[in-house]
Amino acid sequence: METQVAIVGAGPAGLLLGHLLQRAGVESVVLEARTREHVEQRVRAGVLEQGTVDVLTETGVAGRLHREGMVHRGLELRFGGAGHRIALSDLAGGRAITVYGQQEVVKDLIAARLEAGGEVRFEAEATAVEDFDGDRPRVRFRAGGEEQELRCAVVAGCDGFHGVSRRAVPAGALSGFEREYPFAWLGILARARPSSEELIYTHSDRGFALHSMRSPEVTRNYLQVAPDERLDAWPDERIWEELRARMATDDGFELSEGEIFDKGITPMRSFVAEPMRFGRLFLAGDAAHIVPPTGAKGLNLAVADVRVLARALRDFFERGDEAGLDGYSDRCLRRVWRVQHFSWWMTSMLHRMDAGDPFEAKLQRSQLEYVCGSHAAATTLAENYVGLELEDA
Ligand code: FAD
Ligand code: PHB
Repeated sequence: METQVAIVGAGPAGLLLGHLLQRAGVESVVLEARTREHVEQRVRAGVLEQGTVDVLTETGVAGRLHREGMVHRGLELRFGGAGHRIALSDLAGGRAITVYGQQEVVKDLIAARLEAGGEVRFEAEATAVEDFDGDRPRVRFRAGGEEQELRCAVVAGCDGFHGVSRRAVPAGALSGFEREYPFAWLGILARARPSSEELIYTHSDRGFALHSMRSPEVTRNYLQVAPDERLDAWPDERIWEELRARMATDDGFELSEGEIFDKGITPMRSFVAEPMRFGRLFLAGDAAHIVPPTGAKGLNLAVADVRVLARALRDFFERGDEAGLDGYSDRCLRRVWRVQHFSWWMTSMLHRMDAGDPFEAKLQRSQLEYVCGSHAAATTLAENYVGLELEDA
């Protein structure tokens, strides 16, 4: 098998890259380890930045997103038993976020790509990425019980944090920057109408809680839990009780409840690999960096990477111009580190720290009051949350 760009991974990064390349007349093949059903059902992110919605709209894959997505122009920070609205759009030049499940974006991109005759090989697990220091790299993969090989001019490693692409880079060529947090998130989907029109990020003595949604009938809630927490320690009633306790307000907030149909625990980590390019191998999305979900940025960062990469690859294949490829890593890393800082800051401000350190808790309350009381501080949160317009990214 042979193609121009071998894309490893059919998450949002790999699928959007394939879509953008197809529109630019560049040929690609996407290899995905799991089944189509699996990637379409995997429950993850829900918040799309304005820039993410814009690129999906401009490239014709946002029809359902605009029908079913929920546009939000603010969010609530809740602490000390009261809510405080951050008016995102007023503070960030009219920009907004859209709540639309990641798996819906994935479904839309797969449908668009197959309809356009593009190739996505499901149940094709890459086992090695080789020869990317020359101009004929290849990806070895296993499909239908057989070892196969995909030859190409460029490899895009879009295979997430646990994929093979980053691990193919020789030790010493890559620097990793990492922070682990002493907690995880337990997330649920429930058949319950949202209890608020906007997302609620709650700081409480019992730990962080987040109220989000997927539709007028489905809510998504998260609880900060211990990093080694086991799901079976959290029967449904305990989850609702803890959500009610953390989100309680002095004026009697009522959380609507319903059947829980999805439950999972996600560890929290910040990670950046530098650089994001090694010869003809380019890393994008979670393969290159992970952020804790408190800033709602991982998916959006993956989209920002592949926009830069698609443009650079178009210039390369159209005109042999390598400037975009040469600048890829630096350009992406500027946004990556801004987003790393924002995600770390939101995480540090909102979670109960190790052993409930009372000094830390006082600092957090002071910071939350400042963000809600100062126009400048609220603007900082708002413009980062809806997505900064950085040069070229
Ligand atoms: P992935 O989605 O991980 O896709 C990688 C793909 O590669 C997968 O399909 C995988 O099966 C495949 N793969 C792996 N190894 C191989 C191999 N060897 N061969 C072939 N295929 C392979 N982000 C936000 O922006 N907003 C949010 O609100 C948000 N909330 C989140 C909530 C939770 C609970 C979690 C877990 C994450 C959240 N994120 C959020 C982060 C977001 O989901 C990720 O950043 C996003 O999925 C990254 O996309 P990706 O395409 O880079 O990687
Ligand atoms: C979600 O709806 O899944 C969600 C929302 C906001 C976050 C993280 C996840 O910060």
